[in-house]
Amino acid sequence: MKYKKYFRKTSFKQKGVGDFFLQEINSKRPKVFLEVGVFHGVTARNICELLHKIHKDDFKYIGLDLFEENEENKSEVIPNTSFSNPLKNLYFKFIKRQNPYSKEAVQDLLSKFKNNIDLIKGNSNSVLKKIDMSKIDYVFLDGGHAYETVKNDLESCIEVVKSNGTILCDDYNLGAQAPEVKVAIDEFVKRYNFKCEILWNTRFAKIEK
Ligand SMILES: C[S@@+](CC[C@H](N)C(=O)[O-])C[C@H]1O[C@@H](n2cnc3c(N)ncnc32)[C@H](O)[C@@H]1O
Repeated sequence: MKYKKYFRKTSFKQKGVGDFFLQEINSKRPKVFLEVGVFHGVTARNICELLHKIHKDDFKYIGLDLFEENEENKSEVIPNTSFSNPLKNLYFKFIKRQNPYSKEAVQDLLSKFKNNIDLIKGNSNSVLKKIDMSKIDYVFLDGGHAYETVKNDLESCIEVVKSNGTILCDDYNLGAQAPEVKVAIDEFVKRYNFKCEILWNTRFAKIEK
């Protein structure tokens, strides 16, 4: 399956990276998927299309995001949500009448899968602790990039790895832009003696038992 952009912004700008990501997921055929850091929902839509192709209606996608910048969230890095392409700004302002970085807009983008999705607005540092991880078999971790957030997110999802699932972390090696991501992942993998495969020119870290 080809990764599509749906006229929105996504982390996967580099040529080929979206297709590689979908191949990775396809190789595991997960049924219950959690994405931490949904942003405009482009990856969410691609994941749902893929899981629907594999399992028909028998899959679940859970997506979590702050979906807003506020005082409480100000320590988290939120990508620039506006478009450099003026046509896209006009499309969302006057045609869709939506903020693409909102739970409502992502819900709209995923509306064909409305019975399979659960979108949550909140901070992963608190929300993940309340999610039942026992049914989740794949996590795409692409939320906050601060050390404490990555550490908390990984610890909250540990059950997924222990039950033979996968955590795929984005931005493993962003260098000076977000050095704490790599530190938190390396510590987590070492502490629990998990397997960690570094993929796509050090962009992804795939954590498994
Ligand atoms: C890089 S973007 C995600 C991109 C998306 N996965 C994609 O493939 O297009 C990171 C997202 O994480 C969210 N985020 C940052 N800190 C967070 C936190 N502590 N809890 C939940 N979401 C968070 C931001 O709001 C932002 O939308």
